[in-house]
Amino acid sequence: MTFEVENVSKTFVSGDSDEEVIALKDINLTIETGEFVSFVGPSGCGKTTTLRIIEGFEKPTEGTVKDDGELVTGPSNQRGFIFQNYSLFPWLNVIDNVIFGLNINGKPEKESKKRAMEYLKTVGLEDFAERYPSELSGGMKQRVAIIRSLINDSKSLLMDETFSALDIQTKHKLQNQILKICKEQKKTIIFVTHDIDEAVYLSDRIVVFSRRPGMVKKIFEIKMDHPRDRQCQEFEDLVSEVIEMIGEVEED
Ligand SMILES: Nc1ncnc2c1ncn2[C@@H]1O[C@H](COP(=O)(O)OP(=O)(O)OP(=O)(O)O)[C@@H](O)[C@H]1O
Ligand SMILES: [Mg+2]
Repeated sequence: MTFEVENVSKTFVSGDSDEEVIALKDINLTIETGEFVSFVGPSGCGKTTTLRIIEGFEKPTEGTVKDDGELVTGPSNQRGFIFQNYSLFPWLNVIDNVIFGLNINGKPEKESKKRAMEYLKTVGLEDFAERYPSELSGGMKQRVAIIRSLINDSKSLLMDETFSALDIQTKHKLQNQILKICKEQKKTIIFVTHDIDEAVYLSDRIVVFSRRPGMVKKIFEIKMDHPRDRQCQEFEDLVSEVIEMIGEVEED
């Protein structure tokens, strides 16, 4: 799935005061099939807004988004979206939450459950498959919500700070899982994060947004092979470079 974001601008008008907020100004980006692209930048620079426009939740004030050449006019189940705040269905147990999307798409339940158990194992929740959300901790609920989105067969995944609140071990496991999914299924992934180590570990390209109004300030291309070594000099240098660039943006 290739995304073409062309001349996208977004202005929000506050209902009460008619005050205008220019959230995005002239964003141009092409994201290729199977590519892993991260969006980084200061809080309020328009990362979530860009993601929501690409999904079709939000309409741009100017410009267009195309998905495999077709104009995006609304959400599609070919594009998976993992929200900044996600929730589970309280009336379904863990495994039924995980396979919810697969069920809707008519996948055989036995196969789905087998696959769900493999995913649950990767996040250490295989013993909780029959439990209900109310019996889980906050972090456990999050892990279930994440794998529920990862397991679906959408052609792309748009992820908004998905791993931000997880413990470091789970975070690293899910990072490897998402890389595997991206590579094996040729999924296109757009990933919003404030964690630069995470962006460098995962991405083919990192897009740095400027402060509001959000514009593309710089794009870093990362050619290092996977799995990437967080301790090596090249990795550390890249992390520093991206952090420095965000620092510059914040001072602009
Ligand atoms: N629905 C909305 N109505 C009005 N203004 C909005 C709306 N959504 C976003 N904005 C404004 O647009 C700007 C960009 O917001 P956005 O959520 O895209 O930022 P972000 O880069 O994702 O920030 P963060 O890193 O804090 O999540 C902000 O100034 C925000 O107040
Ligand atoms: Mg955001």
